[in-house]
Amino acid sequence: MSSPFRNAPPDSMVTEAIEAGRGARRRSRFIVVGSGKGGTGKTFLAANLAIQWSLWGKRVVLVDADLGLANLHVVLGLDPDAHMMTLLQSRRSRNGQGRELLVPGPAGVQLLPGGSGVEHLASLNRSELRRLVQRLEPCLDDFDVVVVDLSAGISKSTLLFLSAAPEILLVSNPDPSAILDAYAVIKVLSHSSIQERRVHLIMNRVRDVVAANHAGSRLLATTEKHLQQQVKMLGLVPEDDAVAISMARRQPFLLDRPNSPAAEAIRSVARRLLSSDGADARASTTAFFARSAELLAPRRRAPGR
Ligand SMILES: Nc1ncnc2c1ncn2[C@@H]1O[C@H](COP(=O)(O)OP(=O)(O)OP(=O)(O)O)[C@@H](O)[C@H]1O
Ligand SMILES: [Mg+2]
Repeated sequence: MSSPFRNAPPDSMVTEAIEAGRGARRRSRFIVVGSGKGGTGKTFLAANLAIQWSLWGKRVVLVDADLGLANLHVVLGLDPDAHMMTLLQSRRSRNGQGRELLVPGPAGVQLLPGGSGVEHLASLNRSELRRLVQRLEPCLDDFDVVVVDLSAGISKSTLLFLSAAPEILLVSNPDPSAILDAYAVIKVLSHSSIQERRVHLIMNRVRDVVAANHAGSRLLATTEKHLQQQVKMLGLVPEDDAVAISMARRQPFLLDRPNSPAAEAIRSVARRLLSSDGADARASTTAFFARSAELLAPRRRAPGR
């Protein structure tokens, strides 16, 4: 019997998508990985999807925007000695500044580290966020895919990335509290001035496929009915004991256990995302930076004050 986690388009579609991307004027895809509840598997999935795309020949950068509590480097087995605070603190913004912060990782993925245990990064004010985002832009223009790993919940910086994101990968677990928190995130986003965005759902750490599909379908139906936001189900990733084994060995999971059930499911999700229409300008990195500039524009004082 075929696995319920393996219902992806064939490899030929992936190849076509990659070829189409090469032919067209290069436009990088900007994907933000978020969740309501913490610990649903955002960092794990961001890292492994990035590795898979890189193995397929895409130039991929991972941005660790779990600012202050960043841990993507751990999942990738890296030990960076600088992070985004450097970007924020440098006096002048030069074109390309910050690229030296990029750390080469497994399978050719590049990492922009977010800073671990850096309290200040976790509570940036509006003008600091504006400066950070402005300085981020030139670091990311050499890539086909930008993957941003966020913290859970709706801190100021997380909300900015989610609100400006043209494409969101929402990671949930099948339990009711994770589903409720995923709904809450979409609800908060539905109040933002930027309405047009693609939201994909991944159900991670699935033990019961039927129950997870049921929970996912209900979430999709409810968001469409009450929040007028279409959410696409991208796939299920099973709970897999091999994940903890790779983590303990500090090996990137997809490279360490490529034939495990979770690795197969991640490949399937990676294919689907790549095959969905990525050449669309609205899903591009340029769109993200235009939207975030709009959201972070300095507030004008009312005349006469
Ligand atoms: N499919 C899976 N099977 C088994 N373990 C998993 C799976 N996905 C993630 N995990 C494990 O679950 C834990 C939480 O994952 P991860 O750190 O990626 O979550 P997160 O959403 O990024 O958390 P946070 O909100 O704190 O940033 C990790 O120990 C990770 O290895
Ligand atoms: Mg995380």
